[in-house]
Parts: sequence; structure tokens; C-alpha cells
Amino acid sequence: MWASQRAGAVPGSVFALMDAAKERARAAGRAVVDLSIGSSDLSPPEAVLSALRGATRDPGTYRYPLFSDTAPLREAAARYLGRRFGVTVDPQTEVLPLIGAQEGLAHLLLAVTDPGDTLLLPDPGYPPYLGAAAVAGVRVAPLPLREDTGFLPDLDALPQELRPRALLLNYPNNPTSAVVDDAFFPRVAAWCRERGTLLIHDHPYAELTYDDYRAPSALQAGLDGVVELHSLSKTHHMGGFRVGFAAGDAGAIAALARVKGSVDFHPYLGIQRAAALALDLPEALGRQGAAVFQARRDALVPALRDQGWAVAWPQASMYAWARVPGLRDSVAFAVRAAEQTGVALSPGAAFGTQGEGYVRLALVQPPEVLLEAARRLGGVGV
Ligand SMILES: Cc1ncc(COP(=O)(O)O)c(C=O)c1O
Repeated sequence: MWASQRAGAVPGSVFALMDAAKERARAAGRAVVDLSIGSSDLSPPEAVLSALRGATRDPGTYRYPLFSDTAPLREAAARYLGRRFGVTVDPQTEVLPLIGAQEGLAHLLLAVTDPGDTLLLPDPGYPPYLGAAAVAGVRVAPLPLREDTGFLPDLDALPQELRPRALLLNYPNNPTSAVVDDAFFPRVAAWCRERGTLLIHDHPYAELTYDDYRAPSALQAGLDGVVELHSLSKTHHMGGFRVGFAAGDAGAIAALARVKGSVDFHPYLGIQRAAALALDLPEALGRQGAAVFQARRDALVPALRDQGWAVAWPQASMYAWARVPGLRDSVAFAVRAAEQTGVALSPGAAFGTQGEGYVRLALVQPPEVLLEAARRLGGVGV
């Protein structure tokens, strides 16, 4: 009775179904291996934890943080973008702390779109994108990401007359693990500028990259009409801290600050200090977690391929995205797999219609557990 039309428009999540399936597996006495959620199982660097501990003992951190209090984090974010991507941003006008990229995106859509505007959204894509779009009241135009184009968008295949208000992309990609080269964002930004479209790039996996691959930033295509969302959740294993930042087009950042100003008071100052320290860490320290995920990829992907699943070799992110031969109903398969084997994975259909036939496994367990999970999954029929 009290749900607004806006709340009613937010799509339900199949993860509730998966939760129930995991519960049934536990009740049947099975050891559950949960690979369905991309939450890092590693700890933040010790220096980051120590900064947070220290901050909790400083009464100066207990008050509401005002915009001026966020300067150290904004400046650390600007230093990071300069050092890592060669991008110059003004920390005063082109950077804003977030309570995670997910919060940032939901409020950014409220800040830069009007109800009825069109938003181009990747399919498959991170499920909360659809919820954020529903809350903002925008019309979603799906942008298919297909295996035959390396899960990259084919913008030239879209109708010439399409003039979306915003295009949302995410590379390294969740769920497909696809990555892009340095030429990608300049090309996409040019497409957007021709149409008066804001390019929003969700970049939480910026540093979770393997081998010699380094992810580019959309901001390298210029800040005009581009906003990028960064997060400490994956790169520094700080998902529970809820902290990230937005950077880019000063007009869009100002609009976001205006909306957020009526919603929140920025992250806790201690978390801001910890995040600023994390962003200033030398690259080698910041990349220790990436090496752990890379070793897990090296274990799991060949094991999945051995059982006939088609898995692209991930160069980044924390997922294996697998096409399962003959799979028609990935949700039913994922529920059955959890009930029969205790291994929980994400059904591809949870990420959009283009995700059907696929499953996503998060690399959030040590290699030996992933190998055991692959062995158990091999016995589940499609
Ligand atoms: C593509 C993508 N964006 C955003 C998030 C959430 O980031 P944060 O923890 O900063 O809100 C995730 C988490 O899985 C994600 O995969």
C-alpha cells in the first residue's frame, strides 16, 4: 500500500532465490561455497586499517563531514588519477567523494537526467543499474554486449537518430570480465559528444587487472561530458567501508553534489582518511590483491574449460563468465547447482536477457576451493 510507483518499478532480484537455494543446501548438510557475490574476501592493506583505527580515536572525526572536510580525499583522488592515468582534475570542482560507486550512480542519474530521458545501459550489466534507472524514471535503451564482439558495444549498430541523455559503460566489465584498449574511450566519447550524450563510466575494477594489462580511464578522452565512478571496494578490498569518488565534467559533478547535499553528509571522516591513504599507496602495494585473484583465475578457468564450458580468459575483474553448452534457463540451473552441490554461482539471466546461457563465478575463494567447486559443478546437468 505504501510503495510508490518508483519503488514498484525497481526490478526484483534473483539473488533472493539464490539465497533460499543456499539455505536449502545448508539445511541438507552441504558445505556451501558461495561464488555468487563479487565481494572481495581479502583484507585492506594494514596501513589503511591502521589509519581507520587511529581516526576512531580522534574526536575531530566524530562530527558531520562538510564539503571542505573532504579536501584531503579529493586531493588524493586527483593525485591518483594524475599518477595512474595522466589525467588532470581540479579537486575542488571535478572530484566528489561517494559512499560507494553504487550510491554515486543512483544519485548521478537523479542529478543529470529528467524523467523520460533515455539511458543506454549495457546488457548484460550490473543489476543495480536497472534499479537506479527506475528510481530516476529514465527510459532504458539496452546496449547488447555480445561474445562475438568481445562483449564490447557496437555503437554503430544503434539507430542513427538515437540521442540518449547518457550512456553507462563499465570496463573491466561485470559480469563478462571484458576489457578495453586505450583507443576505446576516445572513440566512445566522440560518439557521445556528437549526440549530446553524457558518458558515465563505472570503474570499480580499475586496479583489479592481471598480467600486463592496465585498464584505461574514460577521463583520458577529456573531462567534458564524461563522469567516471571509482570505488575502493574491489581495488582495496574495502567494500564494507562504502567509499569511492566521482570525477569528471564539472557541471555534472556540481549537479551530483547538489543532489547528494540533500541526501547525505559524505563518508565518515575516518573512512575518508583511510581511503585517501589507500589511493596514495605505491602501485606495487595496491596490486597485491590483483595477484591473488590472478592465481585464482589461473586455477578455475582451465578447470571450467576442461568440463566443456566456454570461458574467455579474464584479464581483469573478479569473475569467470562462462557459457554452458545447452543451457537454456540459467536461473533454474543456478538454483539446482546450489541445492545439489552447495556451489552458489550467479545465473547469467540475472544480468539481462543477453546473459541467458551464461553463468558468473566470482573468484572469491582460494584456488583449491575453486577447483573443488568446478569439480562439483561438472556433475550438474543443464
Ligand atoms: C560494476 C559495478 N559497479 C559498482 C559496484 C559497487 O561498487 P561500490 O561498492 O563502490 O558501491 C559493483 C560491485 O559489485 C560493480 O560490480
